[in-house]
Amino acid sequence: MPHTQTQSSTPRLIAVSNRVQVETDGENANRGGLAVALAAALRQSNGIWFGWSGEQTEEFTGQIAFRRADGVATATIDLEAQDIDEYYNGFANRTLWPLFHYRLDLTEIARDFAGGYARVNERFADTLSPLIAPDDLIWVHDYHLMPLGSQLRARGFANRIGFFLHIPWPPPSLLMSLPGHSDLARGMLDYDVIGFQSEEWRQAFIDYAAVQFEATIDGDALRLGERCTRLLVCPIGLDIADFSGAVHSIAAKQAETRLVASAVGRDMIVGVDRLDYSKGLQERFAAYERLLADHPELREKISLLQIAPPSRGDVASYRQIRAELDALSGHINGAYASIDWVPIRYVNQGYSRDELFGIYRAARVGLVTPLRDGMNLVAKEYVVAQDPADPGVLVLSRFAGAAAQLPEAVLVNPHSIEEIAEGIARALAMPLAERQERHQAMLATITRHDVRWWSETFMAALAEEPGQAPGPAPTADPASDSAPADSAPANVARLRDAASAQR
Ligand code: G6P
Repeated sequence: MPHTQTQSSTPRLIAVSNRVQVETDGENANRGGLAVALAAALRQSNGIWFGWSGEQTEEFTGQIAFRRADGVATATIDLEAQDIDEYYNGFANRTLWPLFHYRLDLTEIARDFAGGYARVNERFADTLSPLIAPDDLIWVHDYHLMPLGSQLRARGFANRIGFFLHIPWPPPSLLMSLPGHSDLARGMLDYDVIGFQSEEWRQAFIDYAAVQFEATIDGDALRLGERCTRLLVCPIGLDIADFSGAVHSIAAKQAETRLVASAVGRDMIVGVDRLDYSKGLQERFAAYERLLADHPELREKISLLQIAPPSRGDVASYRQIRAELDALSGHINGAYASIDWVPIRYVNQGYSRDELFGIYRAARVGLVTPLRDGMNLVAKEYVVAQDPADPGVLVLSRFAGAAAQLPEAVLVNPHSIEEIAEGIARALAMPLAERQERHQAMLATITRHDVRWWSETFMAALAEEPGQAPGPAPTADPASDSAPADSAPANVARLRDAASAQR
C-alpha cells in the first residue's frame, strides 16, 4: 500500500501507538480519547494508524494487517509471547509506568525488559519503514515507543517526527534510577516535537536535559548540537461534541434514571478509573470511610459508586491492588452497611460512553483522585455531563495533569485521607450558585481546549518547517491563556540554575 500520497495538499499523517483502537460499533462505543482525536486527523490526511494488534503470534513475522474502520486506515502487527512479556508487560508496564508515576517502590528493573523494549521498537521501525513516504508526518504516542524516533532516524528517515507523552515525565532524580536513562532521553531529541500534558512534565524534561546533556533552551525549543526539538505543553481534551451529544441518548437517560432510582434520595458520589495503583483508589476508599466516621449525619444519606474495570492483569502489582480493594470495600461495607444501605458499590466492569454520561450526570460528586496522572479525562467527562442548571462538584487530585486546567474543581492532595474526606464534605454542602460558577468556568476551558484543539495544535507544530521561528509554547492553562506558560529568559535562567545546582 502505502506510498500513495494524498490528493490534497495536507501531508499524510502516520500515527503510531502501542494499541490501535478504532471502534466500529457506533454511538454506544466507549472510544478512548486518543482514538477519537486521531481518527479525525487521519481521515483528513488519508493517513494510517500503525501499532500492535493486541494479538500474540507464535513467531514474529512483521506481517502487517491492513484494515479500514470508521473511515480510518489501520496497519497492525502481531507480537510474539516474549515481546509481550518483556516489552508490554515488562519494560512498559513494570518499569516505565510505575517509574513515570513516581512509584519507584513498584518499579522493576530487568535487563530482559530493556532488551525486549529495544527489540520491539526496532521491530516497529522495521515494519513501519516501507510504509513511509518522504513527506509523511509521523506522530508517535506514549511511553511504549519512546525510542521509535531514533530507530527511524537510524534507518535514514528525515521526515518530521513528533512524540506525545500521555503520562507524566518524572523528575530527574527519579529518572536517573533507570539504567540506560541517558540513552532513552537522548533518543527523544531525535523527535522534532515533543508534546507534554502539562508544564510540570515539560519542565522536568528540560531539567533533566540540562543536567544530563547540557542542552540549551531557545524559546520553546531544546537544542543539542545539530538537533532542535520543540517542547510543547498541549493537554489532551475531549471530543466535546461527541461526548456532550450523549445527553440525548437513550442509554445515558436509562443509566441516569436507574442510578437515581437506586440511590433512593441519597447523594451519589462516583469514581470511574481503570484499576491501577496510580489512581489512588485505596486512599479514596479510606477517605470515604473517614468521612462516614467523622460525619455520622451523612451515613445512609450518601453512597459511593466506584467503577473500576480491571487492566494489565498479567502484572502482579495490578492483581495485588485488585485484591486490596476487594478487601477494603468489603471491610467498609461490613462496618457501616445497614439492612437497606450499602456505603460503597464497587463494580469491576466497564460501561459505554453513553452509560457513563448518565452515571456522571446522576452523581452529586465526581471523585477523581489519582496519586499522579498525565491528564485524566474522566475529570473532564464528569464536568461535561453535568446539568448546567444544577451541576455536581468535581473533587480533583492536585497531581493530575487536569488540575492545571481546572483550578475551579475542589482540589485535594490525594495522599491525604483527611483532605479528600473534607473535599467530599465540602462538595456535598456546596451552594447552587457556587456549583454553577465553578462548573461554567470548567466547561468553558474544556470546550475551548477540546481534542481537536489538541491534535491541531500538535500537528501544526509538527508540520512547521525546520528553521521557522518557533512560537510560544501553547498552553491550555486558563490562567495563562494570554501569556506563554514560560518565558524564554525565565526558562534559560531556570535551566542554568538546575544545571549548576545538580552538577
Ligand atoms: C494509559 C496510557 C495509554 C494506554 C492506556 C490503557 O492511558 O497512557 O497508552 O493505552 O493507559 O492501558 P493499556 O495497557 O490497557 O493499553
